[in-house]
Amino acid sequence: MNSTECGGGNPLSPPGEPESSATRIELPLPDDWHLHLRDGAALRHVVLASALQFGRAIVMPNLKPPVVRCDQARDYRTRIREALRAAVATAHSPVTASDQPPVLRCEPERRAWLLEEALRFEPLMTLYLTDHTTAADIDAAADSGLVHAVKLYPAGATTHADAGVSEVGRLGPVLERMQKRSLPLLVHGEVTDADIDVFDREAVFIDRVLEGLRARFPALRIVFEHITTRQAAQFVRQAEGPTAATITPQHLLYNRNAIFRGGLRPHWYCLPVLKREVHRQALLEAAVSGLPRFFLGTDSAPHAARLKEHAAACAGCYSAPHALALYATAFEAAGALDRLADFAAVFGARFYGLAPHTRRVSMLREASEVPHALPFGRGNSIVPLAAGEHLPWRFEGLIGAATG
Ligand code: NCD
Ligand code: ZN
Repeated sequence: MNSTECGGGNPLSPPGEPESSATRIELPLPDDWHLHLRDGAALRHVVLASALQFGRAIVMPNLKPPVVRCDQARDYRTRIREALRAAVATAHSPVTASDQPPVLRCEPERRAWLLEEALRFEPLMTLYLTDHTTAADIDAAADSGLVHAVKLYPAGATTHADAGVSEVGRLGPVLERMQKRSLPLLVHGEVTDADIDVFDREAVFIDRVLEGLRARFPALRIVFEHITTRQAAQFVRQAEGPTAATITPQHLLYNRNAIFRGGLRPHWYCLPVLKREVHRQALLEAAVSGLPRFFLGTDSAPHAARLKEHAAACAGCYSAPHALALYATAFEAAGALDRLADFAAVFGARFYGLAPHTRRVSMLREASEVPHALPFGRGNSIVPLAAGEHLPWRFEGLIGAATG
């Protein structure tokens, strides 16, 4: 491949010089309110990256088959915990230093302490709504103390969404019960009609589905997931009733040009797809607004490189290993590093009725290169978001003595 024709260029170009001169920042341990951890070998390869950076994560249920019942959610949580224990055990004695996430390239005592702390990571489970979900399923979920939310995928909207909901209007009794039991509805907000332009699907979803849902269930707690448009940010600001949104690092840092820069770049392809610059700016404004309705959700969605570099590339960006550095880069470019802590560590917890963490983490201004590829199990590799680029911030990990 000729690098001047294809694959050249650096899409990460925050406008102008950073406004802050901070060299180190501290914030409460953040949480990730939208995360795909997958299963099996892939799960073992990705779970530690999140556990080292986040205290909790809302774990998406779009496995194959999807997580539709509480017993499946409980089993999945057990597999996540086992995978984390296995990943921690491996990280205690890495084969080479380069196998380690950068945050673990430190004194052995500190590394051991960080790994022990990572075991405290809490996967917060969700159920996948289908046409067959019943009000009794919702009661079971609310009673379980294990299920924190229910995810609505319009059928066919994204990766593993074929079992999703074909007609939201028919979900009345289920949504009624969720409203009554105060169980949040997490929405993948895109229509799926083939005749609607891919770039318009989120905005059309607001008009056709979300406005009606909001009005029909005024007390239902709704999170509009991974918003990508000015219209979505506007909807969330103005909606009545408990409404919030997660925002991903890729939608804060890139516009749709990133997908086409110097050749078709599948590693920038996710759903909802990146939009025009005007939308990126509206999202950045929302993220740094200080409004508690907007909070961090990476939508880190790992796929093997061979399935991304494919004639029908899978949708999803893998951002977990350097998620906080990406967010810090975006917030700093907006001159709002001081707003990062609330966005990353406070607002989401409050929306979910949980206390923010008292443990704290730090980040250092130190250029770090995003790896070109990472292991992904069974001979597969994965290309992370912004692979090969230099980020101005490096995650240093939890603050604390090696002895705790
Ligand atoms: C997600 C995935 O791969 O599971 N993909 C994505 O592009 N975001 C699904 C989703 O959240 O839409
Ligand atoms: Zn997602």
